[in-house]
Amino acid sequence: MFRRYRRNRLNVHLQSLVRENQVRVEDFIYPLFIRTGEGIKSEVSSMPGVYQMSLDVAIDECESLKKLGIYSIILFGIPDIKDSVGSDALDDEGIIATAIRGIKAAHPDMFIVSDLCFCEYTDHGHCGIIDHVCQSVDNDATLKISADQAIVHARAGVDMIAPSGMMDGIVSTLREALDSSGFVNLPIMSYSTKFASGYYGPFRDVAESVPSFGDRSTYQMDPANRREAISESVADEGEGADILMVKPVLAYLDIVRDIRENTSLPLAVYNVSGEYAMLKLAGSSGLIDYDRVLLETMVSFKRAGADIIISYHAKEVARLLQKA
Ligand code: PBG
Ligand code: ZN
Repeated sequence: MFRRYRRNRLNVHLQSLVRENQVRVEDFIYPLFIRTGEGIKSEVSSMPGVYQMSLDVAIDECESLKKLGIYSIILFGIPDIKDSVGSDALDDEGIIATAIRGIKAAHPDMFIVSDLCFCEYTDHGHCGIIDHVCQSVDNDATLKISADQAIVHARAGVDMIAPSGMMDGIVSTLREALDSSGFVNLPIMSYSTKFASGYYGPFRDVAESVPSFGDRSTYQMDPANRREAISESVADEGEGADILMVKPVLAYLDIVRDIRENTSLPLAVYNVSGEYAMLKLAGSSGLIDYDRVLLETMVSFKRAGADIIISYHAKEVARLLQKA
């Protein structure tokens, strides 16, 4: 009598026919951390399986990514020298511009996204220029140099830029700068709703970008705010973003759903470093069935409304999907 839901679950093929969401290898963007030197591949202690690498190693890594079906990467740079304005990020010979050119030359078929921010390049570790009077990031001064950074990435041949600094007006500023320099076809994926989160801890170890004073709560969002979270992404859609993003994701799946329902743009989620570290640790200590929990977590992003998943797990997921 009570067979309403069970009939559709009794056969594996029928289960597949009625499955509402699925994770595909094409959904992923894999983060790479590039530093200068040669032959360098150093594992990040808080993120097993994630490495800082030199360009030659990153080029080899792209070969393995392609074998797994992963063609999209997002680049982060760790410069040798950091200063108050993040000069390396504005230099055509800087770490990221060099990496974009090098990877593009070796792998013209890779889709290269660049993270556009200053925290990896400044000696104080904040995401822009510091206004010393209020001891916080100067929004408008940072917009100016962000436009310069975008042109450096564009000239190097990047396929998409991803501003992650949460400055007000960043998307319209970058769109104008790109258009007026002839890069009208270069898309912008905005970190449109980015929370001031403790989940970024391990990333800041890899990127060596822990703020030397204060925190990022004057520019990143308060985790308690839902209406503001929607409004931030809706504003970036209005400014001309091509793709929106929610970051982190695990504790913010409600926000993913909200933004999905309030905008029509493609939506990315960033499955951040702390989320990766938690799952890895639970798996390696045998507390959970790692592969199973991993796929369950990934499909939750799709179910919440994400189109694109930026994740350190991308290679593991690709392997699991190949097996399935
Ligand atoms: C730079 C940036 C951060 C991340 C991506 N881009 C760190 C931050 O805001 O401190 C976090 C990624 C992660 O934790 O995996 N603004
Ligand atoms: Zn930053």
